[in-house]
Amino acid sequence: MKLLRTSSLLWLATLVSRGWAISLLEVLQGYPQLSSLYTLVNSSSNATALLANANNFTFLAPSNDAISKFNAQNPGVLNGTQILPNIQYGLLKGGYPTLSISSTPQFIQSNLSDSTYANVTGGQAVELVLGSDGTPEAITGNRSISTSSGSDIPCVGGIVRIINSVLSIPVTTVMEITNANLQYFIAILNADGYLSSSATYVNQVLDLHDVTYFIPNSAAALAGATQLAQNSSAADLEAVFEYHIVPGSVNYSPMLKNGMSLKTQQGTNLQITIQGGDIYVNAAKVIASDLMVANGVVHVLDNLLNRFDTSGPPKPTATASTTSNPAPTSTQNSITTPTYTSSGGNSGMSTGAKAGLGVGVGVVSLALISTLAFLIYRHRRNKAAATAAAPWDNSSMSGATASPFNKFYVQRGQVQRQEDPGLGLQSTGMQQQYGADSGVAGREYGQVDGPAIPPRSPSRALRGDGSYF
Ligand SMILES: *[C@@H]1O[C@H](CO)[C@@H](O)[C@H](O)[C@H]1NC(C)=O
Ligand SMILES: *[C@@H]1O[C@H](CO)[C@@H](O)[C@H](O)[C@H]1NC(C)=O
Ligand SMILES: *[C@@H]1O[C@H](CO)[C@@H](O)[C@H](O)[C@H]1NC(C)=O
Ligand SMILES: *[C@@H]1O[C@H](CO)[C@@H](O)[C@H](O)[C@H]1NC(C)=O
Ligand SMILES: *[C@@H]1O[C@H](CO)[C@@H](O)[C@H](O)[C@H]1NC(C)=O
Ligand SMILES: *[C@@H]1O[C@H](CO)[C@@H](O)[C@H](O)[C@H]1NC(C)=O
Ligand SMILES: *[C@@H]1O[C@H](CO)[C@@H](O)[C@H](O)[C@H]1NC(C)=O
Ligand SMILES: *[C@@H]1O[C@H](CO)[C@@H](O)[C@H](O)[C@H]1NC(C)=O
Repeated sequence: MKLLRTSSLLWLATLVSRGWAISLLEVLQGYPQLSSLYTLVNSSSNATALLANANNFTFLAPSNDAISKFNAQNPGVLNGTQILPNIQYGLLKGGYPTLSISSTPQFIQSNLSDSTYANVTGGQAVELVLGSDGTPEAITGNRSISTSSGSDIPCVGGIVRIINSVLSIPVTTVMEITNANLQYFIAILNADGYLSSSATYVNQVLDLHDVTYFIPNSAAALAGATQLAQNSSAADLEAVFEYHIVPGSVNYSPMLKNGMSLKTQQGTNLQITIQGGDIYVNAAKVIASDLMVANGVVHVLDNLLNRFDTSGPPKPTATASTTSNPAPTSTQNSITTPTYTSSGGNSGMSTGAKAGLGVGVGVVSLALISTLAFLIYRHRRNKAAATAAAPWDNSSMSGATASPFNKFYVQRGQVQRQEDPGLGLQSTGMQQQYGADSGVAGREYGQVDGPAIPPRSPSRALRGDGSYF
């Protein structure tokens, strides 16, 4: 502890002796591993303004290596329209020092809420968790893992952590189905007529904001869906589809509690059970959780959901039943905004971080006094230079086309909102995220020819049937 304090004081003293105030932008400017990031931020007046005014944050800052790795795979993306959303996504709300990260995942909202990239109220989330080797991880789109090897860098308003790969902004649900290679689900969409252009409800739920998707992806689910297609009306199939979607709340796995019931788009509820450490939705087991998408989260199931049987998974055997589930603890039928928790019951910057900053600020104040005159001079000089060089104050940005960057951005926004009118699905995410060579997977997906809706069999009522629904 003493050692830690001494070294951080030495570090602060170094900064002070070089005349640096410890702002977020100055951390980016001062750390050699962050020079690429600093150059990118400095090239975007909006990104500069965002970071200059940020408060109460954890900023995940990709290293030079991370940026060159990203640029090699996505040339020309980060220095174009993508720099601002990437900065916004790395700017997490609240202080999350390494010590607050545990093996229980936390889903922390970021500053990214531009609807071109995210339709999660309050900002797209980043998952923070301790990896199996004890390294802090930030998990983002398609469960890409960014790790941080160095220590936390405290600065005015929050904490900077250097990460080894650029965060992956979650793509649309349609794109994520392809990215995550959910082959059985794609076959289910095909088998049950959900790709048909007349299945307009599919696009409707893909377009919602704040959604939890339960996506069946197994041979058993496909067999069930195939059989269902033979015996069901279009309305029945629509009900089945909509029963797998929970609108109005983004329920990351830690928020799925035993006994919770969630209202689906279809109108009736599904039931969450935690048993043997696994999450069940009705009787189906969650086999992959927390695939983040632009408008919420996807959990993958081992079977279709049956809305006529919400009784949950088979109970464990008699001997195991001593560890049976506690009584239902909550119901969650009308949540509109997810809540995010930080570990240890601490919201925002941890007490430790606050204390750390407090101690640091207190002790160096002596040193500060001696260099104050120099600092003030330096600060004023910098400020004047920044204002002159980067015209990002409100007055110069007030016109809609004040910035050429802004103009380009709007044009791309229009280009991106393409729809394939022949299909019940649309894809925009990949283009937004990966620029030029994106869209490919989306188009491939779009080429799948939807089958005609299966013939209506009014004589078969699903309700009494029971075998699947
Ligand atoms: C940059 O900020 C200005 C002023 O706040 C705004 O009008 C403009 O749309 C922003 N540009 C982008 C790309 O967000
Ligand atoms: C972005 O970087 C690429 C090289 O990675 C370069 O060819 C391109 O001109 C740059 N674009 C802008 C707008 O600076
Ligand atoms: C992102 O930061 C800007 C500037 O501080 C703020 O106006 C905006 O509300 C923030 N957005 C979110 C989603 O927190
Ligand atoms: C967010 O929702 C709007 C419709 O409300 C849609 O136009 C936009 O494409 C969505 N953004 C993403 C990233 O899906
Ligand atoms: C997404 O993640 C899955 C599982 O790790 C992987 O198999 C797949 O290749 C990834 N997709 C992309 C596009 O990175
Ligand atoms: C669907 O109907 C076929 C015959 O038309 C029958 O063999 C099958 O068992 C039925 N499936 C269900 C789930 O009832
Ligand atoms: C910091 O942000 C977190 C997360 O948004 C919030 O819960 C907390 O109240 C904020 N703390 C302060 C001091 O503003
Ligand atoms: C930051 O941008 C300004 C122009 O906006 C430029 O004059 C300055 O050299 C840049 N600084 C760095 C370190 O790139």
